[in-house]
Parts: sequence; structure tokens; C-alpha cells
Amino acid sequence: MSTISVIGCGYLGAVHAAAMASLGHRVVGVDVDEAKIESLSAARAPFFEPGLEELLASAQSDDADAPAVLTFTTDIAAAAEATVHFVCVGTPQRRGEFAADLTYVDAAVESLLPVLKAGDLVVGKSTVPVGTAARLAELIRPTGAELAWNPEFLREGHAVEDTVTPDRLVYGVPEGAAGEQATAALDEVYAATLAAGTPRLVADYATAELVKTAANSFLATKISFINAMAELCEAAGADVTLLADAIGMDDRIGRKFLNAGLGFGGGCLPKDIRAFMARAGELGADQAVAFLREIDSINMRRRVRMVDLAREVVHGSFIGKHITILGAAFKPDSDDVRDSPALAVAGLISLQGGTVTVTDPQAIDNARRMFPDLGYEPDLDTALRDADAVLLLTEWPQYRQLEPEHAADLVRGRAIVDGRNVLDPVQWRAAGWTYRALGRP
Ligand code: UDX
Repeated sequence: MSTISVIGCGYLGAVHAAAMASLGHRVVGVDVDEAKIESLSAARAPFFEPGLEELLASAQSDDADAPAVLTFTTDIAAAAEATVHFVCVGTPQRRGEFAADLTYVDAAVESLLPVLKAGDLVVGKSTVPVGTAARLAELIRPTGAELAWNPEFLREGHAVEDTVTPDRLVYGVPEGAAGEQATAALDEVYAATLAAGTPRLVADYATAELVKTAANSFLATKISFINAMAELCEAAGADVTLLADAIGMDDRIGRKFLNAGLGFGGGCLPKDIRAFMARAGELGADQAVAFLREIDSINMRRRVRMVDLAREVVHGSFIGKHITILGAAFKPDSDDVRDSPALAVAGLISLQGGTVTVTDPQAIDNARRMFPDLGYEPDLDTALRDADAVLLLTEWPQYRQLEPEHAADLVRGRAIVDGRNVLDPVQWRAAGWTYRALGRP
């Protein structure tokens, strides 16, 4: 058993702390946000993530005889009893720039300095520009602690399973004996995961940092590639969903992440590819990732194309039209609205004079905070009532399963634009709907 502190209890940290406790370690989660700590201490997840509350509850059992394996606090001094300290704070995009904002990472490491002791291991999990680990290792050197970089690959909506049973573990460690000690400490932390057969790769800091950035760039590239093909399919009268099925059957290509539609959003892919371009520029290697600018442009064009299609189905103008938008979260099984393509489209339509009603099973509160001027309605049927057009922009199961006959009785105009290519065009057209999609004839 290891004694672990997790600095930063946002998305990454809260899941990591609960998952490490479930693997049998003693864990303290530390965050400056009192409301978050209060919520986590009561086994309430401050955001929607399937499975997280169960994990929090089982690790914070009320049994007075059993020592708590998972606690949360705002007091960094509580990290002093831990020997492994995970840094799990966010690295958002800097305002007005492409580069990552490292303020929180730097503050987290600085707050740890007074509690670190010789033999401790600080483990960075945040997504950072290559070169950050080497700089932080210098900062903590006087304490006698060592640093490792162990990037996180979790997907929102699957965060618990991705943390407990990831595809792979990557350790970025220093050279020599310090690196061997860091590897041994991480092997102890992940003993159960390794025993279950998860492969682990041990690398230098820079490679470990780049693995994460490269993986996210590749995923973004796959999505924008198929969306570029969707643009061609629209021009040529072809069907991108069949095209994706057919090319995906080649296992060198693979079908995953070839779902064409409104493109990617969220707190990771968009900002990570931009931060990568910024860092590559600093390193004099901007040519190597110049293609990522195009990946970003293809992605942003999807939103404009969606608005154009929506305008077409309401006969050329949004003025006086009621548009119902299914989905506010950047993807299903999440209440995260950071860089949500659905909300970007909703905002553009509203700016062009449309009356917008957004519905979502989980993300309405977050959406309202970010875009207070849009209309919101949690009930799906009420949201559909009197719509001149319906746009499916986040593919929650309840929207995929929407019955065209049922929806037809509620709306004013039977027009639907399928922004995620998840509905059956034949079924919708048979029920009298005008069905349009991105990349399908
Ligand atoms: C991503 C990475 O998958 C994860 O490994 C990394 O740690 C963080 O970033 P996440 O942002 O949670 O995870 O979402 P993901 O499931 O990757 O989806 C990202 C976006 O791409 C969503 O907006 C989704 O709708 C979109 N997407 C995904 C597509 O448009 N098409 C696809 O085929 C797949």
C-alpha cells in the first residue's frame, strides 16, 4: 500500500484520487476550492461522471473502526504524510493565445515544496508542454524528492474505467538510480493494474510528455480527416458513414474515431493541439505540426456548415423561427460544456435571429452559466414543442432513440438536421420529415 496525495481535485484529480483508493492505497485529495472539497467529502461528485460517486462512497465508508482510505481537504499540510504526490491540476488554453496556461501546475508544485521530504516522488499527470517536467524537477531538487511524469489518457464519461484499467501506463523518469526508484514507486502504486496485464512503458520526461500530446493530436486528426471526407461526400453526393465503415474495416485504419459530424470539442483535444503548435513554435519545429492548424480549421468549419444546413431547412432565415437543439454537452455521458460544438452552434443561430431552445439531460446548468442568453428546457418533449427545426448535436442515447412519429406530433415544422450521423434517414423520411446530415446525401 502506498500513501498518496492528489493535488487538484477537478475532473482528473477527483477520479484519480477515488481510483487510487479503490486500488487499496491511502489517499488524501487536496484542492483550494472549499465547495469542491465539501462535496467530495460527502461522496458527491462535483460533475457528472458515471461510476464516480459509487467509488467515492465505497472509499469513504462510515465504519468508525476502519481508517478512512480516502479523505479530502483544503490543507496542503495533509499531504506531508504521503510519499507519492500526484499533480492533477488543469492546463487550460491561455486567454487570447494558443499556448497552455501553466499557472496552476506551477502553483501546485510550489505549494508542495514545504511538505516534500527526501525519498518522496512527485508525479505529474496534467497535460503539459514538452520541457515542463525537466523544469519542475529542478524546482523540487532542493527538497530531495524526485519527479516522474505519468500522463493521463482518460476520456470523460469513461474516466473511472480508463483510470483503473487504462490501455497503457507511461512513466517519464530521470536517468539512473533515481529513475529506477521512481519506476519502483509507480509500480507499487499501479500494482493491481499491472497485475491485470496493463502494459507499461518507461521513458524520459520529454517522451512521456509528448506521448500524451501526440495521442491527442492523432485522435483529433482522425476526426478531422473523416470530417474533411464528409465535406467531399457532400460535394459529390456520397455517404460518409458508409465510407467510414468501409475504410475502418482495414485494421490498419480502424473504425474508432471516424464518426463524422459536428467535430470535436471539450476541455482537451482543441486546447491540446493548439498548445502543441505553440510549443513546437518555441522549439523551432513549427513546420512539423503545421498540419494541426488545418485539423483545427476543418473542425471549426463543421460548426459553420451546421448553421448553414439549419438555415437551409428553415428556408433561408432564422428570423421568427424556433430552433430546438438536442444536446449541450461536448459529448454524451458528460455535463462538460467546455468548447462544446453544440453550444457554439446554438450561439451562432441565436446571433442570427433564431429563437433557440437547448435541451440536455445533464449539462443545462453548466450551459446556462456559460451562455445565459439562450433558452433552456430540460424536458425533451416540451423542448420539441412548436419547433420549426430540430438539430441533434450531442448524441445522447435518448436522442438517438427519439421516435420520428412521436416527435412529429410535437413540432411545427418536420425538419431535422443530424449533426452526429446517428439517426436512420429512411425511418425519419418515412415519417414525413426533411432529414439532413453532415456528409450524407
Ligand atoms: C480526449 C481523449 O480521448 C482522451 O484520451 C484524453 O485524455 C482527453 O481528451 P475526451 O475529451 O473526454 O477525451 O473525449 P473524446 O471521447 O475523445 O471525444 C472528444 C470529442 O471528439 C467529442 O466532442 C466527440 O464528440 C468528438 N468525436 C469523437 C467525434 O466527433 N468523432 C469521433 O469519432 C469521436
